[in-house]
Amino acid sequence: MIEEIKKIKQRMGEDLLILAHHYQTDEIVALADSVGDSLKLAKVAEANKRAKYIVFCGVHFMAETADILTNDEQIVLLPEKDAGCPMADMADEKTAEKCLERLENEFGKGNILPVTYVNSKAEIKAFCGRLGGTVVTSGNAPAILKWALSQGKTVLFLPDQNLGRNTCVDLGVGLENMALYNQIHDELYFDCNKEEVKCVLWGGYCHVHHFISDETYESMRKAHPDYKIIVHPECRYEIASKADGKGSTEYIINQVKDAPSGSKFIIGTEKNLVDRLIKNNPDKEILILDTNSKCRNMNKINLDNLYETLAEIEEGNFKRQIRVDKQTAKDAVKALNKMLELS
Ligand code: 13P
Ligand code: SF4
Repeated sequence: MIEEIKKIKQRMGEDLLILAHHYQTDEIVALADSVGDSLKLAKVAEANKRAKYIVFCGVHFMAETADILTNDEQIVLLPEKDAGCPMADMADEKTAEKCLERLENEFGKGNILPVTYVNSKAEIKAFCGRLGGTVVTSGNAPAILKWALSQGKTVLFLPDQNLGRNTCVDLGVGLENMALYNQIHDELYFDCNKEEVKCVLWGGYCHVHHFISDETYESMRKAHPDYKIIVHPECRYEIASKADGKGSTEYIINQVKDAPSGSKFIIGTEKNLVDRLIKNNPDKEILILDTNSKCRNMNKINLDNLYETLAEIEEGNFKRQIRVDKQTAKDAVKALNKMLELS
């Protein structure tokens, strides 16, 4: 299968671009033209005007983002159309409009600036674009949220409450100055005067990171006191605030790679990436914070469906294409371009 994929790659040359997120398996990563975090992959997709076909080995929102950022003629495909991101699915346009109405009643009309994590549906990025808002990735969230918080409005951060909370605290916003919007019950919670609310956090989360428990963290800390704990900012505040470092997948990789030989790390993120860190850094001691940290959706991409996608492209069959409708893409690109300008 690997040899067949390599042959197709050779035949298609620069017409084909295979992108892979860091959470993909080793065999997929080895076949990719570019591997990265969400920010890097969005930038690579945007910069490549040459490839006719971009095969995204990642999850649905990543392929959508690539489709929005590429030319109309470029075709973006996802090897497994069911590879979604459950956190992205926690926010939809209809509920976001309902939330906006509620927040405008509370904080004033025209006074809400929506900012979405890139792990969101295209319709949420479009919602942000229409309202002058933007997008963040875990790699640029501090810089972009800093900008958003300085715009004199109440920021609505979707859909990941953990990335929003962790980043806002780093930027000096007190926990008491953040509200929480429960999107299932249309309820808003805050403990301060409404004039003091700086950011409203949508109640979404990534189950892979959110459910790393305090007990797991404490037992690993206790068992390995000389290890540095580095986590992804999708972890809960209770974990992220105690860790020795937090950042995007690219940040985590660089922290480990650049550390002196003999360094010891406990990593709180998806298992495929941690396993690769262990393999690629034999001079360091690396443990996973929680062995349950597996993203089922990222793992839906495999050699079989990658090969099938490429074979179908050669036959002129694009049934795995991910296409964002024109109006949604037009609004979403405003939010994405603002992110690219700011980061
Ligand atoms: P990164 O942008 O840090 O790679 O994160 C993407 C993601 O889905 C993490 O769960
Ligand atoms: Fe979504 Fe979490 Fe999987 Fe990332 S790890 S794709 S946020 S479910």
